[in-house]
Amino acid sequence: MKDLIRKLVEAVGPSGYEGAVREVVRKEIAGLVDEIKVDALGNLIARKGVKGPDGMRIMVSGHMDEIGVIVTHVDEKGFVRFTTICGVSPATCIGGRVKFLNGTPGLIYMERSESPDKLPSMEQLYIDVGAADRASSPVKVGDVGVFDRPFVEIGSRMVSKAMDDRIAVAVMIEALKDLKFSPHELYFVFSTQEEVGLRGATTAAYGVDPDLGLAVDVTRTGDTPKGVKMEVALGKGPTVKVRDSGMLADPRVVRWMAETAEKAGIPYQLEVLEAGTTDARAIQLTRSGVPSGCMSIPTRYIHSPSEMVDANDVQLSVRLLVELLTNPVNLS
Ligand code: CO
Ligand code: ZN
Repeated sequence: MKDLIRKLVEAVGPSGYEGAVREVVRKEIAGLVDEIKVDALGNLIARKGVKGPDGMRIMVSGHMDEIGVIVTHVDEKGFVRFTTICGVSPATCIGGRVKFLNGTPGLIYMERSESPDKLPSMEQLYIDVGAADRASSPVKVGDVGVFDRPFVEIGSRMVSKAMDDRIAVAVMIEALKDLKFSPHELYFVFSTQEEVGLRGATTAAYGVDPDLGLAVDVTRTGDTPKGVKMEVALGKGPTVKVRDSGMLADPRVVRWMAETAEKAGIPYQLEVLEAGTTDARAIQLTRSGVPSGCMSIPTRYIHSPSEMVDANDVQLSVRLLVELLTNPVNLS
């Protein structure tokens, strides 16, 4: 699975430009599913099986897009000003590197600070692309890039710029490989533009029209020095989401997920996330509403260029997803 993870996280796919990731996914799942479609927003929608007598139409969604930068202005000396694609802190940008879709590398730095004890604002940061002036700049307004950091393993932990949400994409692909039987009509949606407001999942959910929705995404942890107050920790298994800032998971879905994990002897953690949401929100609110939930992979340093997951959590996430999809769903 490590090779697959490496391939996925090193692919470049900021929101709206997920094509390279989509091609990796398409190759990996060819032969594992019955039908593959790409919709107008670029979502890759893979169907496996048909709805049996005990089955449901289930949409499982994990997003292909990652955070990034977009050029707003190039000054006369060739320095690039930018805005971010989704929530990125200046603290994780300074001294970091980016790579634009046209291959141009750049490094982020900051203006001299009038108050050195204060974090600079995004407006005080710029990207140096090695240009001497605007005319010779290899990037122009509207060009898009991602953070550039190689995948590394540290003991049982794996670190990358795009664990959010390629680790879920990897979990979904592995689950497709391991799934021997399902009574359900499964739609595996590899979605686009999640980071800018669940846009891909919104149209995909409308098109799939599922009976049940499940997002697979990353969640924060509370296990770092003076970190956020949160029960979730690395290495204790996938989470069953109860609530995040955009969704109250359907309590029947929460119970079904927790009971499935318990029956299979898979450790799991209950998740209450105070900031952020997932594709499950879009599924839950489509058409006249869909019972929805989310399984998350605990991740440290989300939306930084070094997002960290635990390899054991990843394996357990694959197992839980396979268990959830193997048996009839009881939502009573
Ligand atoms: Co994210
Ligand atoms: Zn995500």
